[in-house]
Amino acid sequence: MQSIDELIAAARRAFAAAARPADLENEKARFLGKAGILTERLKSLARLEPQQRREEGARLNVAKEAIERLLNERRAQLAEDAVSAQLAQEAIDVTLPGRSRSRGGLHPVIRTWIRVEEIFRSIGFDVADGPEIETDWYNFTALNSPENHPARSMQDTFYVDAPDAQGQPLVLRTHTSPMQVRYARQHGPALRVIAPGRTYRVDDDATHSPMFHQVEGLWLDEDISFADLKGVYTDFVQRFFESDDLRVRFRPSYFPFTEPSAEIDLMFTSGPRKGQWLEISGAGQVHPAVIRNYGFDPEKTLGFAFGSGLERLTMLRYGVDDLRNFFSGDLRFLRQFQE
Ligand code: DAH
Repeated sequence: MQSIDELIAAARRAFAAAARPADLENEKARFLGKAGILTERLKSLARLEPQQRREEGARLNVAKEAIERLLNERRAQLAEDAVSAQLAQEAIDVTLPGRSRSRGGLHPVIRTWIRVEEIFRSIGFDVADGPEIETDWYNFTALNSPENHPARSMQDTFYVDAPDAQGQPLVLRTHTSPMQVRYARQHGPALRVIAPGRTYRVDDDATHSPMFHQVEGLWLDEDISFADLKGVYTDFVQRFFESDDLRVRFRPSYFPFTEPSAEIDLMFTSGPRKGQWLEISGAGQVHPAVIRNYGFDPEKTLGFAFGSGLERLTMLRYGVDDLRNFFSGDLRFLRQFQE
């Protein structure tokens, strides 16, 4: 039979080997439980002579106390280990360098968009916004380009497969001009508005992108003429480019929704690009048929409209020569516009 010392030593080893509280409780049962080693030994005292029973009983009691103490020490140790492990896991290294947040910047085309809005707001224009998925009627028909009219092939259109709820064919708007009709039908017949936004055409090269931006302008009243267009647009261009060293030219052109129609060209009279005419916008006196589609009487309501490319304005302002730079997401290009 194991000596008392051996028994205590065995318990010490077993408790030390128990790595988790549940293991320790199993070991406790093995020594101190109802059928445990020590319990069995206490039961067997009954078979001994009185003198021997007393001596052996006293030793077993010492052993029991010793084993219980070892057990409690190990329990405390395991509890402490658990707390330390948790603290270690949750530790925060306050000496780590902080994570810096990189600063974003506005896209150059958006800068132009904001500038254009500011300039036109300052002379009393409202700013309107409208759908990029447009009905064929607003995009073409209302603007005096009826079905099969050659004007429709001037613009390579993205058609949407399904018609709208009313069965109307849908397109991705090829220009912001449908906003003239939408806005006039709600606000006319005396209004001043610009409508900047995204537009889409099947086109992709150094000067065209399938998605691009335009700003539409419309001024309607009883007596708004081409002279007002010249005044307003020239003033806009001078303020946009922050320069008086430029000339603006209105070159006769054709658009179905204006009559007369013009292409607006710009020439810098100083700086690196001086002496070259650069096309920046379409414009004109709104066609009587379009005024009628706004819901007004063309005898009583007159006005001008223009549609300018925001990429074009941005390229001229910053000297960017390839439009694809705007949409390739190259940070080396974009960072140059960060303030
Ligand atoms: N919508 C035309 C285009 O995208 C531009 C344009 C020309 C707009 C003349 C106008 C305008 O408002 O009067 O090519």
